[in-house]
Amino acid sequence: MLSLSVITGLLAALSCTAVNAAPTTVPAKRDGYLSGAIATTSVPLTVMTGNLIVPSMTVPAGANPTVLYVGQAFIGLSESTWQNNVFVGVQCFAGLSSGCEVYYEFGPSIPITASPNFTVSSGDLLLVTIDEVPTTGDGQITVINYSTGDQASFSNTGSGLSDLYLAWWMVGSGQGIDFGDVAWTETSAMTRNGSYITPDMAQTTYQMNSHTSVETYSWGAVITYN
Ligand SMILES: *[C@@H]1O[C@H](CO)[C@@H](O)[C@H](O)[C@H]1NC(C)=O
Ligand SMILES: *[C@@H]1O[C@H](CO)[C@@H](O)[C@H](O)[C@H]1NC(C)=O
Ligand SMILES: *[C@@H]1O[C@H](CO)[C@@H](O)[C@H](O)[C@H]1NC(C)=O
Repeated sequence: MLSLSVITGLLAALSCTAVNAAPTTVPAKRDGYLSGAIATTSVPLTVMTGNLIVPSMTVPAGANPTVLYVGQAFIGLSESTWQNNVFVGVQCFAGLSSGCEVYYEFGPSIPITASPNFTVSSGDLLLVTIDEVPTTGDGQITVINYSTGDQASFSNTGSGLSDLYLAWWMVGSGQGIDFGDVAWTETSAMTRNGSYITPDMAQTTYQMNSHTSVETYSWGAVITYN
């Protein structure tokens, strides 16, 4: 099991995340719905990859439309404190703002950064890859839009990780947010010793509340908010 401090640290990191990346002011009080699956490995990875259909996000009927709602779906790697990490995914907005964007983080040197020149919309199919160069610890993220073939890459040197956690996540904020289903498919990670780690090998599935469910398979992870 993850310790409470690890989860608290991750939540704190995620809170910062949305504050840094959101196009408008995030409400001071965030109702986070963090759900996902975490696998551990004693052997660092060379690559982690997954497909994602950009979800749609709407303000539910009757909910306050003057609040910013943020939903994020991301995968990533981290050591146990979640300070040194590589995360990449999409975040979508509803209420005060709308639309979706790709974002990434190489913590702690490169905080959450949105990719302004790589616009995505609900329904787009993305291929996301995180590569690590074993000899240098350099990390590279590549995001490809299957519909257009457009590609964006982000890299960081010396982002080497050890004592690894792999995570497939969804997080939402805003009362009554509706972020639909988040499905990471064809997701796997290869360690430096050549073995594969898939979501169904996750040691922990974490559900923020009873409105979320997490299902893991050899081919991916489905996270549902309902
Ligand atoms: C390779 O790494 C995986 C993940 O930690 C581990 O389960 C497996 O036993 C390792 N295999 C070898 C041959 O070291
Ligand atoms: C985005 O595109 C503009 C115009 O081509 C360019 O000036 C800018 O550097 C790009 N930004 C990034 C982060 O690539
Ligand atoms: C991704 O593909 C969609 C079509 O599904 C397109 O509208 C969008 O502009 C594309 N984005 C990029 C960055 O290629």
